[in-house]
Amino acid sequence: MNRPGSPQSEGDVITILLVDDIPEARENIKKLLAFEPDFRVVGSVGTGREGVASAKELKPNIIIMDINMPDMDGIQATSLITESVPTAAVIMMSVQNDADYLRRAMLAGARNFLTKPISPDELYNTIRTVHAQHKVVAQRFRDTPVVENLRPVVQVEGTENRPGHIIVVYSPQGGVGVTTVATNIASALMKEGVRVLLVDADLQFGDVGVLLNIQSQSTMVDLVDNIHDLDTELFDSIVFTHDSGLKVLMGPARPEYAEVIEQNNPTAVAQMLEKIGGNYDFIVVDTGHALSETVLSLFDAAAKIVLVGMPTLACVKNMRFVLDLFDQLNYAPDKTMLVLNRVPDDRNRQKFLIPSEKIARFLKRPIELEIPADEMTALEAMSKGVPIVARRDKSRSPIKELMGLSDMLYTRLVGSQEEEMADAADKAKQRKPGLGLRLGKA
Ligand SMILES: Nc1ncnc2c1ncn2[C@@H]1O[C@H](COP(=O)(O)OP(=O)(O)OP(=O)(O)O)[C@@H](O)[C@H]1O
Ligand SMILES: [Mg+2]
Repeated sequence: MNRPGSPQSEGDVITILLVDDIPEARENIKKLLAFEPDFRVVGSVGTGREGVASAKELKPNIIIMDINMPDMDGIQATSLITESVPTAAVIMMSVQNDADYLRRAMLAGARNFLTKPISPDELYNTIRTVHAQHKVVAQRFRDTPVVENLRPVVQVEGTENRPGHIIVVYSPQGGVGVTTVATNIASALMKEGVRVLLVDADLQFGDVGVLLNIQSQSTMVDLVDNIHDLDTELFDSIVFTHDSGLKVLMGPARPEYAEVIEQNNPTAVAQMLEKIGGNYDFIVVDTGHALSETVLSLFDAAAKIVLVGMPTLACVKNMRFVLDLFDQLNYAPDKTMLVLNRVPDDRNRQKFLIPSEKIARFLKRPIELEIPADEMTALEAMSKGVPIVARRDKSRSPIKELMGLSDMLYTRLVGSQEEEMADAADKAKQRKPGLGLRLGKA
């Protein structure tokens, strides 16, 4: 019988690299880890520089890293490892329970933190939790990128030839307002003649239906088995039309169906949206906060990713992690737009929260928009089942900011496309006659 922590197969073993300048400290941890059959220490080194080199060579799942070391400290080493070995997750160790250290370590890319002296249970739980969280991301860097499976995409016959810009709204943190932002962007993008689809891709705990007061029997689960035969008629029969005219593709009605999609075909949602894209001008996707393969394939398919956060340390740290991941996936910086939601007024903020300028500096990106906290408006919209932006008083916060966000997305997506078309037309005019033929012969 398997006891908790015993590996089912070689693939379940968690490989670990220890980096600490004190040999006894490394030995102690090694002894503790030896009690657990699912852990294997693959390396043990004494400096930050050796830590980076061993991480590159051994590609461990987990690196337990001391913060204070001669030559290169743990923070700098973590920064280099996060960049060059994205399959490894760093857990930082320190004697100080110092908020500033913690902040710097997390911002350097450490996934968690252990304070010395470390108890065995704390050590085991932290390693297992970090490993579970990092698994999907690590897998992505080992496999062929999913994007190659998705493209080239053949849109289904009979689509209208619309651009089908996919806007994915995501936050690594729960409860920051992803569903609120997605629903309101979708609603605000709807203008005369513009076709918008809102997709609930928070497969496990999606609540677009609750927010818009929709009860629908048909969901994307009815489509996942028919991806190859997907056509406009079948898709339209599943899509729900909200009172406001917004089209909504509902997520699974029960959390356990999420598992089925995730296991059988995690790229199914991205595939169906790319196939059906020609029938819509914009497709706005609400997501859950877990970095699942479904979410990663939606990021690949997206024209824009709206990354939503709140001005708290935990959230900023996770946003930094996601932005690093996007860099590693070679996404263009302008693919992502940073938005802070639920930002309280200045008076409260100074006491508890990180100022936006500081956040922008940590994240090395501008914050494109701050949406103020307004519990009443959000609650009222929720209880009525209508998006906030549907209210008449457009000058009021946070309606104004949400409308502004949708305008920004419209201009960047449609504007850039118009520019591209104008550029292409200009180039066509400048092209010398016969050039194509000469090149063809050479
Ligand atoms: N700007 C805001 N001001 C005040 N409350 C807000 C604001 N935006 C969202 N909320 C409220 O915060 C709560 C969470 O919002 P929402 O469900 O949109 O977040 P989420 O990120 O999708 O959460 P989950 O992780 O549960 O999917 C809701 O009660 C919503 O009304
Ligand atoms: Mg949500």
